[in-house]
Amino acid sequence: MGRIYGDPNSPVEALRGVSFTVDHGEMVAIAGPSGSGKSTLLNLIGMLDAPSSGRIVINGIDVGGLSEDEKAVMRNEEIGFIFQFSNLIPELTALENVMLPGMIGKKNGFDLRKKAIDRLTQVGLSSKARSGASTLSGGEMQRVAIARSLINDPSLVLADEPTGNLDSKNSEELINLMRDLNKKNNQTFAIISHDHKIVAKCDRVIRIRDGMIEDQEDDVGSSDVTSTGDKSLNDKKTLEKLREENKILRTRLGKLEQKRR
Ligand SMILES: Nc1ncnc2c1ncn2[C@@H]1O[C@H](COP(=O)(O)OP(=O)(O)O)[C@@H](O)[C@H]1O
Ligand SMILES: [Mg+2]
Repeated sequence: MGRIYGDPNSPVEALRGVSFTVDHGEMVAIAGPSGSGKSTLLNLIGMLDAPSSGRIVINGIDVGGLSEDEKAVMRNEEIGFIFQFSNLIPELTALENVMLPGMIGKKNGFDLRKKAIDRLTQVGLSSKARSGASTLSGGEMQRVAIARSLINDPSLVLADEPTGNLDSKNSEELINLMRDLNKKNNQTFAIISHDHKIVAKCDRVIRIRDGMIEDQEDDVGSSDVTSTGDKSLNDKKTLEKLREENKILRTRLGKLEQKRR
């Protein structure tokens, strides 16, 4: 696939001819310098953006052929997202944040709550279920974000620099947690990271440079990836989109609340 940004007079070719397959249950790292196209790639896989050329097949479905509504359903049910900033709604509890992606559609509220508690237990945070999201530490917030990403039992979990904002101890805990979940739930993980500890934990690393795949290794133990703070345009765009979705959810929550009264 390829992705070209901007107007035709000054195009930015963020991805060119990138092609790879990830097996179900695999945990792959996507590494590369800042600006190499990693977030663009993940956004395409997550259907937050569409490729300029080529195609993306998820669970046998060519997603280019889906309507926006179908894409939204597939995003919600099949794909879990984790970003550098957990993007929790601070006014809600940890539990409520985990429940949110499950509130789309007509799911039973009680079952959803039970499921959310189970997910929080999986990330070791059941004791913080009723704590306000804004009172959690950075590491705890990211664990809540992981629990939230798993609420609809996605077959694929996409993470864009999930430890970018954490210290090394919390980073290590988080990657161990993701690896455990990947094995336990047989869910596919694609994780963008500069962190060599994360890369080393994955089954395989896909290295991107200048919008192209550089090489792929199975043995990633010795890989040496330099750490750079990475806050691209694209991440901002993605966060904005999520915030917008959160706003819609908040309106929905408000309406739900009114109904109950
Ligand atoms: N919305 C956008 N509009 C224009 N250019 C963009 C946009 N998003 C990303 N880019 C450019 O595409 C390239 C790849 O960006 P990105 O995928 O965010 O890289 P990475 O995540 O590896 O840092 C960069 O040159 C970046 O400036
Ligand atoms: Mg990025």
